[in-house]
Amino acid sequence: MRLNLCLSGFGNIARHFIRYFSARREAVLARYGLDLRLVTVVGSQGGLHDSAGLDTARLLALPPGSSGLRQMSGLWSPALASAAGIAASSADVLVEATPTDIWTGEPGLAHFRAALEKGMDIVTFTKGPLVKSFGEIKVLARARGARIKVGGATAAALPTMDIGSYSLAGDELQAFEGVLNGTSNYVLSRMAADGLTCEEAIAEAVARGVAEPDPRLDVAGWDTASKTIILANCLFDAEINLAGVPVQGIQEITLADIRAAEARGEAIKLIGKAQKTASGVQVAVRARSIPFAHPLAALSGTAKGIRFISATLGEIVVSGGKSDPLGTAAAGFKDIINLVRDKGLLPPV
Ligand SMILES: NC(=O)c1ccc[n+]([C@@H]2O[C@H](COP(=O)([O-])OP(=O)(O)OC[C@H]3O[C@@H](n4cnc5c(N)ncnc54)[C@H](OP(=O)(O)O)[C@@H]3O)[C@@H](O)[C@H]2O)c1
Repeated sequence: MRLNLCLSGFGNIARHFIRYFSARREAVLARYGLDLRLVTVVGSQGGLHDSAGLDTARLLALPPGSSGLRQMSGLWSPALASAAGIAASSADVLVEATPTDIWTGEPGLAHFRAALEKGMDIVTFTKGPLVKSFGEIKVLARARGARIKVGGATAAALPTMDIGSYSLAGDELQAFEGVLNGTSNYVLSRMAADGLTCEEAIAEAVARGVAEPDPRLDVAGWDTASKTIILANCLFDAEINLAGVPVQGIQEITLADIRAAEARGEAIKLIGKAQKTASGVQVAVRARSIPFAHPLAALSGTAKGIRFISATLGEIVVSGGKSDPLGTAAAGFKDIINLVRDKGLLPPV
């Protein structure tokens, strides 16, 4: 079976995705009979399309962004920019990898709309559209019979959605809580282990490339909030947005707070939590002091983890997964295969 992909964005994650895709596509063809082709790549200024499949080696030799795509002579067209390029694509699946803006949802929201109007399925690394406009996207996807996979946007290599939707299917999910942001956990770990102040640990994380050049979204809790909201909306069939979520980051945490917690036998972690209550699903993000015996307390460095509490299946904890761009890319690639599996189009195991 052939499956055509349209990639939106040509930055860090998109290029790691192309690298991983080109390394794994033969193995996927041999294992599943699934012939994946990358037929379209769109940037903000224009895009590339080749219905026979773009040459990934040539793509990877280009510099990032639209300025790089523009150098692919013969295939570049300004008319294929952004949503217009998606609308014009013959792809079956949109792989969305543009920057995240959780307040406007753009540019990913326009891309989601363009793809869903055509009934295209979506595999997303971008959180913005789902944080801003989950309800609208759900309605549009259901009306068009399209599916959306969010693993790449919800802690990527750490299985979150997969456990919540497959492993807990049919049971009553009561709550989940997670350490979902590697940068914040790295900062808190460095403070606890080596006595750095919060500012020193953040500066070190940026200098080592662990954190984004602008780490504010991570340390202020917005990235954790985005992931928690997307998971809560998908797993509880809710429609929560940022306005309904108290968000606290780690910037106010001092070394004294950490040492006081340790004296009580506790560790401070930035935790996104969603809980079913009598008045609906409550979501909150805050730095919490949890006992050393708590399964999330032992996560150190950029490690992530999530704990589900399900009525009959019980407590399930998952941790680990590569916390780097290639691991993220591989998580999106896995979502593409499972998208096809969900449709019953892969051979039975
Ligand atoms: N870093 C991680 O480990 C990680 C993990 C999970 C999820 N994510 C998410 O993955 C997404 C991509 O991150 P990144 O690090 O790859 O970002 P990035 O390096 O900044 O790349 C984003 C690319 O999108 C392009 N772009 C901007 N506006 C566009 C538009 N309107 N239409 C089409 N392309 C557009 C930009 O190029 P031009 O404007 O020049 O075309 C740029 O090449 C983000 O949403 C991020 O939150 C990242």
